[in-house]
Order: sequence, then C-alpha cells, then structure tokens
Amino acid sequence: MALRQFIRCSSVLSSNLKFSRSQISARFFSNEQPALDKKEIEVTFVRANGERIKVKGKTGDSLLDVVVNNSIDLDGFGACEGTLTCSTCHLIFKPEDFNALPEKPSDEELDMLDLAYDITDTSRLGCQIILTEKLNGLEVKVPATINDARSS
Ligand code: FES
Repeated sequence: MALRQFIRCSSVLSSNLKFSRSQISARFFSNEQPALDKKEIEVTFVRANGERIKVKGKTGDSLLDVVVNNSIDLDGFGACEGTLTCSTCHLIFKPEDFNALPEKPSDEELDMLDLAYDITDTSRLGCQIILTEKLNGLEVKVPATINDARSS
C-alpha cells in the first residue's frame, strides 16, 4: 500500500471507527503475530512427584508465559520475569523435543543454565522457549529444586 494511500485510509478509519492513527499503524506494520492468527499449543508440565499439568498456550508465547497465563503454581518459577538473570525457569525436555527446538540456547542462557540445580543434557530455560506449531503436545519436566541465581 502506498504511503499516501495508507495515510488517507488511516485518517478515514480513525475518524469513523475511533481508532488512533498509531493503533491502525501498529496493525498494518507490526511484526507481531495478530492474536487471531495464533494457534493453541498443548503443553504438559510434569512435576518431580509425577503430577501432570496439561495446559494450553499460543504460538509466540514463551513457556514462562504459559505458566503465568495458566496460573500454574510452580514455586519461584520465573522470578526474573524472563530477563535471563535467575534460572528459576529451568525445565527438562525429552531428547527428541530438545533436538526439535527452533532456537539453540544463547551464550547468556547457557551461562544461566550453569547456575541451575539438577541440570541435564536436555535442560533449557522456559523463558527462552517460544512456542511454535511444531511444539504442540510438548511435555517438560519441572526439576525438584530451583536456584535463583540472583541470590547466589
Ligand atoms: Fe529468569 Fe528465565 S525467568 S531466567
């Protein structure tokens, strides 16, 4: 859409529909996936005692978002709110799921994982895992103990 045409169109829309120009601009030019296009993804969290918690997230959500949005009671989980400074969102993946994750861990994530308790070869930080359609049916283990790296 040509810029001039967009400006004219957004002016008409904002005056008729009570949307601000910035709201319309965000809708047209945002890189974020529109909420309606997001797919539901089933995730199961398995506590150390074997309790299984099956919930739904959406594509684009992190596993930390899934825990928060479903009000899952995991003591201390996600203490730094995804700023990669605590390691309390440590989760353990099945090898096949671990290998299928779309992103490899960054150096910062690996540094933080070194501070987590009960680390395994298939450990990742939940705040760094973004759900894709391929991850539907994902099952992750929640370690028995957590370490808040900020207090180490
Ligand atoms: Fe703190 Fe993931 S929530 S590192």
